Amino acid sequence: MKLGGKVALVTGASRGIGKAIAEMFVREGASVVITSKDPKRLKSTAKEISAFAVIADIRKDIQVRNAVKTAIDKFGRLDILVNNAGIFPKIKKLHLISEKEWNDVIDVNLTGQFRFTKYAIPHLQKHGGVIINISSDAGLKAYENFNADAYTASKGALVLLTKSWALQYAKDKIRVNCICPGVVETDMTQGFLSSLADREILNAEYPIGRIGTVEDVAKSALFFASDDSSWVTGAVLPLDGGESAK
Ligand SMILES: NC(=O)c1ccc[n+]([C@@H]2O[C@H](COP(=O)([O-])OP(=O)(O)OC[C@H]3O[C@@H](n4cnc5c(N)ncnc54)[C@H](OP(=O)(O)O)[C@@H]3O)[C@@H](O)[C@H]2O)c1
Repeated sequence: MKLGGKVALVTGASRGIGKAIAEMFVREGASVVITSKDPKRLKSTAKEISAFAVIADIRKDIQVRNAVKTAIDKFGRLDILVNNAGIFPKIKKLHLISEKEWNDVIDVNLTGQFRFTKYAIPHLQKHGGVIINISSDAGLKAYENFNADAYTASKGALVLLTKSWALQYAKDKIRVNCICPGVVETDMTQGFLSSLADREILNAEYPIGRIGTVEDVAKSALFFASDDSSWVTGAVLPLDGGESAK
């Protein structure tokens, strides 16, 4: 088991990628705290994967602070933070986005990651630790007709913040790395995958011939969370079947 004795907190882990990461970490021996905003879904997931649920709307500073505190009260330490929670906006060209729509995405996808990281750092500083940011291939390059600029901005910012935090906290033995997935089948991407034809077109976009699975992301997260990556910090991993290499 690669994470025996470790305590991990995975945000947005009620479903999708976060849930798969949390499940993988539990399987590898970690005590895992999962957070999200929908209490019913979160509790049911926690039961299913043997994790500890703490409701925290990532837009609310006080709830984020309490989530980190509750994790510490329960397990006494924190070793791994996975900044995963995220939303995807309605696709629109930039000049059609309202300021509210812009701010709503930035609040969850970027300021939310700032909030969790800020409250986690003092605990990680006690004995070293790991932060994993879930960005996107949309944070690495622009895609024609993607038209989700607040999302792109939030994910691009996370890529550079990964490097900044890696340098700021290397002396504290906190490693900070980033995963940039291409399209992965989850609730977030159901709209792009509604028909078999859409799915085939998307699969064909990827040099490896398929979109991603939540397990693909969980395996990379395990690498960054474990000592297998003990000399890796500030790294940004495109996890996209070769898409961003095109
Ligand atoms: N799927 C993809 O193709 C893809 C590709 C690249 C990057 N990503 C990134 O991967 C991450 C996970 O995406 P996913 O596909 O797994 O999405 P998902 O299935 O839609 O799940 C999103 C998660 O984020 C949580 N969340 C949303 N708003 C929140 C808020 N205000 N406070 C707390 N939690 C909140 C949701 O909680 P509730 O259940 O409570 O709503 C849920 O647990 C996101 O950062 C996304 O941008 C996804």
